[in-house]
Amino acid sequence: MEQMAAIDRAYNVADIAAIARRRLPPGLYDFIDRGAEDEVTRRENSESIKRILIRQRVGIDTSMRDITTQIGSVVQSMPIGLAVTGMVGLLHYKGEQAMASAAASAGVPYTLGSGNFAGMAECKEICGDLLWRQLYPCRTEALLQHHLGIARDAGVNNLVITLDSPQTGNREYMLRNGFMPGMLNRNAIREMLSRPGWLMRAIVPYYLHEGGLPEMVDLPDDIRGRFGDRKVPPNPPADDYSWDTIRRIRRDWKGRLVIKGISVPEDAITAADIGCDGVIVSNHGGRSLDGCIPSMSALPGVVDAAGSRLDVMVDGGFTRGSDVLKAIALGAKCVWLGRATTFGLVAAGQAGVERVLEIFRSEISRAMAMMGATSVAELNRDFLQL
Ligand SMILES: Cc1cc2nc3c(=O)[nH]c(=O)nc-3n(C[C@H](O)[C@H](O)[C@H](O)COP(=O)(O)O)c2cc1C
Repeated sequence: MEQMAAIDRAYNVADIAAIARRRLPPGLYDFIDRGAEDEVTRRENSESIKRILIRQRVGIDTSMRDITTQIGSVVQSMPIGLAVTGMVGLLHYKGEQAMASAAASAGVPYTLGSGNFAGMAECKEICGDLLWRQLYPCRTEALLQHHLGIARDAGVNNLVITLDSPQTGNREYMLRNGFMPGMLNRNAIREMLSRPGWLMRAIVPYYLHEGGLPEMVDLPDDIRGRFGDRKVPPNPPADDYSWDTIRRIRRDWKGRLVIKGISVPEDAITAADIGCDGVIVSNHGGRSLDGCIPSMSALPGVVDAAGSRLDVMVDGGFTRGSDVLKAIALGAKCVWLGRATTFGLVAAGQAGVERVLEIFRSEISRAMAMMGATSVAELNRDFLQL
């Protein structure tokens, strides 16, 4: 009840992040919010969006404006989607199901990550064609084939492979605060105990209903187990993949294939040459390689190089409907949200994610009317002062 009241008084993404900050152990808030090393890319992701200005056209009837868009054969109610954010099942009880349900009710796609606590089949049931699946390159061919098989069996069409993190980003704050798998320290335990409301909502229900922390599902039996189970070997990122790996996946995966983590035109061209269907211009929200080009600055070059052959999408730093419209005007088909929807989940579960999506919907619609555009398809660079 109290959660609902707070979320109803949240008028923008910053308000929702503030609620999440109050609810979460500080180290977990940092896990969502912060970036790698000096956080240059994390900051520039949002600032480079704000530096682009809109050329407002007036005197245009926008009363019938249309904010829907289509990716592949699937129509979505607006040009945004829920980016993959791993571990959300530990931020909120059954967090992935809540994210999936909010996405489905808003008519936008949800990307389920690997290392998931909710099964792909269950999420497919919730989201239908709006469910996307993300994988990192796998350490073995057997694991890759296992994941592809599960996605195929669940009937997922859009497969996203993240290429920007052959190593985990250098997130020094996590070493300090101790919120890392396998190294929960005294500080982390003290912080968790300082947020009993969060513990009761997010963690205790797993013990009550499932007898312990949730299981990482959709994995082969030998590496499947509950989160934190010492018998389950850690699965460090692979760093021995190359574009040949993507060529092999392209051969084996008949659905749509999207590469996430593209920053430069050359790589988008390679993805197109291999026969991928889309790319997501992304730097992992500034969580991986600090100092790399912010997404919004990278976007136009990628669109110019490969936009006619690929669906070019983008993420990183989007907090307003007008931010989204700028990216669409630069040639993106869809903007993916990472932190914004994760904060919504922490603030009020499914209702919090729905609130974030509702805020984006109203901001997109309002800004589109005021900039003089009648449809997403009509947006182009003439609407921007670059
Ligand atoms: C808590 C959290 C977990 C994430 N986990 C993953 C992941 O498992 N795989 C991945 O490709 N990207 C992951 N990302 C990156 C997002 O998919 C996305 O690229 C980024 O968050 C977009 O930037 P934004 O948060 O500023 O919207 C994660 C981001 C956050 C905030």
